[in-house]
Amino acid sequence: MKVKFKIRRCDPIRTGRCEPYLQAYTVEVTEGMTVLEALIEIAAGEDPTLAFRKSCRSAICGSCAMTINGFPKLSCNTQVLPEWRKRGEMLIEPLRNHPVLKDLIVDQTPFWKKMDKVTPYLTPKDEGPAEKCYLISRQEARMIDRSQKCIMCGCCNAACNSLDIDSNFIAPAASAKAWRFVGDVREGQLRKRLERLSDEHGVWDCVRCIHCTQYCPKDVAPLEAIERLRSRAMAEGVMENEGAIHVSALVDSVKRVGRLDEAAMTFKTLGFLRSLGMIPFGLKMEIHGKMPHPIIFPAIEGIDEVKKIYEVVEKRAKKRRKKKKRG
Ligand code: SF4
Ligand code: SF4
Ligand code: FES
Repeated sequence: MKVKFKIRRCDPIRTGRCEPYLQAYTVEVTEGMTVLEALIEIAAGEDPTLAFRKSCRSAICGSCAMTINGFPKLSCNTQVLPEWRKRGEMLIEPLRNHPVLKDLIVDQTPFWKKMDKVTPYLTPKDEGPAEKCYLISRQEARMIDRSQKCIMCGCCNAACNSLDIDSNFIAPAASAKAWRFVGDVREGQLRKRLERLSDEHGVWDCVRCIHCTQYCPKDVAPLEAIERLRSRAMAEGVMENEGAIHVSALVDSVKRVGRLDEAAMTFKTLGFLRSLGMIPFGLKMEIHGKMPHPIIFPAIEGIDEVKKIYEVVEKRAKKRRKKKKRG
């Protein structure tokens, strides 16, 4: 059957700036045909100037990622007909959150710079003979398994809400790569890595929208990696940042009153002076009847049960720490 493709094109290399426009092509589509195959057909017949990347055609090289009907996908493992039946159109655009070079080809320099920032290789502990140093159990390997599956396609970064508003954000792909090494028992620079990752624009800037995990074609689950990095950073005592302070304020609040005491949490997270800047916001909340009393904040009914849960969890954590120390 004939399917109409609308492709967002632009050629900043030739014209000096990106002035995107939509161009339509009609392709004779057969069952099982992929979006990449349709693009190849267009370029081979109707329009050889159409630019896009491809290599393996098997969802392993990561080069053919683009926006298909609004979502980041690999064009070589996305079939046209199911897409067309679901959405009623075929709109093909370049990956978002990446500068466009030409048509569907994006500049991956920012992506690789972020990768570079997380030191994407092992810096092993010096533990004597190599055969001892490099041993890793199956269970330990499982901890970093998912991060190792990344094919660097950029789909996660393209879908990331935090990256959309802050181009300096470390972003999901590099975070998943960072976990690959932080989670590796052979890594020797754990603390240094965690400190860098907890800096401004680091893992605490993720807003947990889950898009990275949702659109990753390889089940890498970058958000899971980010959560692990955050909790490992706290476990290692990397607490000099707003994210970790906020989490510990949240834990204290639930322990004390069984719920979130926003006023106290703001104060603990931002400190006295910066909390003053929140006064206009607090007044607005007060007007709308949403401002909890800053001093009298009663505990929930059943707070004793909450405290018991904390006792059990804290005891277990203590036991784990002791066990880890003994090695
Ligand atoms: S969960 Fe975090 S890292 Fe993932 S896409 Fe959302 S903001 Fe970005
Ligand atoms: S984490 Fe997934 S979506 Fe992100 S670059 Fe790697 S394979 Fe692509
Ligand atoms: S062409 Fe290699 S992943 Fe699509």
